[in-house]
This record gives sequence, structure tokens and C-alpha cells, in this order.
Amino acid sequence: MVIIALLMLFYMKLTEEDVSVLLVSPKNKGNTYDVLSYVERNSDADLVVIDQDEKCNLKDYETIVIGSGVYGNNLHKNLREWLVQINGASFHEEVKIYSFITWIGRGKSDKTTLAKIKNLVEDKNLKLEENYKTCFGRMLNIRRRHPNEDDYKDILSWVKSIA
Ligand SMILES: Cc1cc2nc3c(=O)[nH]c(=O)nc-3n(C[C@H](O)[C@H](O)[C@H](O)COP(=O)(O)O)c2cc1C
Repeated sequence: MVIIALLMLFYMKLTEEDVSVLLVSPKNKGNTYDVLSYVERNSDADLVVIDQDEKCNLKDYETIVIGSGVYGNNLHKNLREWLVQINGASFHEEVKIYSFITWIGRGKSDKTTLAKIKNLVEDKNLKLEENYKTCFGRMLNIRRRHPNEDDYKDILSWVKSIA
């Protein structure tokens, strides 16, 4: 009886779905990275920094959050290059891709940037989920108290809600 129970447990462990989240940061410093690092430290999510040698298997992730600051209506150049060169077939078949943006709140530059990210994702026959998240990120003296503890917690609970 005990052996059968152990075998069942072993089988369940083998077939368990490994649902995990990948956070993608364009660089290893700055507001976007700070927030994503906080999420990584406080959840099961993995963080990958574009342009660093670490390789990750995109197929392992059903949820991907791509982060970027806004730079004059544009996404970070590392993220653009990554999205341009990446193979759409290397993602999990049921992947859900979300966007996380840090900005100072200038006009509609978040929306313009999101639209560009969406186009790049769709060029790979993938879909960008409508549900996205923004938070303020300091630029010199503007929004200088962001991202703060409340921002960190807000983004963490958002990531947990989509995972
Ligand atoms: C060159 C440059 C251009 C920027 N352009 C915008 C902009 O158009 N709209 C906006 O809201 N924020 C703008 N910002 C502010 C950044 O988006 C914001 O500080 C963001 O958190 C930067 O992310 P990072 O620290 O991860 O690079 C700009 C910042 C820089 C340095």
C-alpha cells in the first residue's frame, strides 16, 4: 500500500506542470531593472537581462513580462534588438506576454511605446496581452521618489496576479 502511494506521488511530481514567470530587463541597472529585481527577489519569477551572456530556455515560461523604460516614445534599444532577432517559435506554445513600462508620465508616450512593443511582438506571430502595467521612474529631479516601496509592491502583486 505504502509503495503504491509513493509511486503515485512520484508520478504526480513527474507530471506536475512547471508554471513559471520570466521577467525580461533591457539592462542591469535603472528603474525598470530595480523593480523587476524586487519582483524576482520576492517571487518565484526568473529575471533575465538582455545582452548578458546568461541563456535561458524561453520554452520553460508560460508567462513573460517584458520591461522597458520610455525614451522619447520608444522602448529601450536592447529590448527592440532582442524582439527583432528572437525566434517566435522558441517561446512556450501557450505563452502569455505582458508589458511593464517605467516612465515619468509624459503625455501618451507610454501608449506609443506599448504600441511599438506590440508591433514587434506581433511580427513574431505572438500576442501581447492587453493587461499591462506602468510605474513612474525617476529621471534626474522628475518623479524623484519613484520607484518607491509602494511601486515595488504594486508591480509584485500585478505579476503574481498574471502568473
Ligand atoms: C533619453 C530619455 C528619454 C525619455 N523620454 C521619456 C518620455 O518620452 N516619456 C516619459 O514619460 N519618460 C521619458 N523618460 C523617462 C524614463 O522613461 C524613466 O526615467 C524610466 O524609468 C527610465 O527607465 P530605466 O531607468 O529603466 O532606463 C526619458 C528618459 C530618458 C533618459
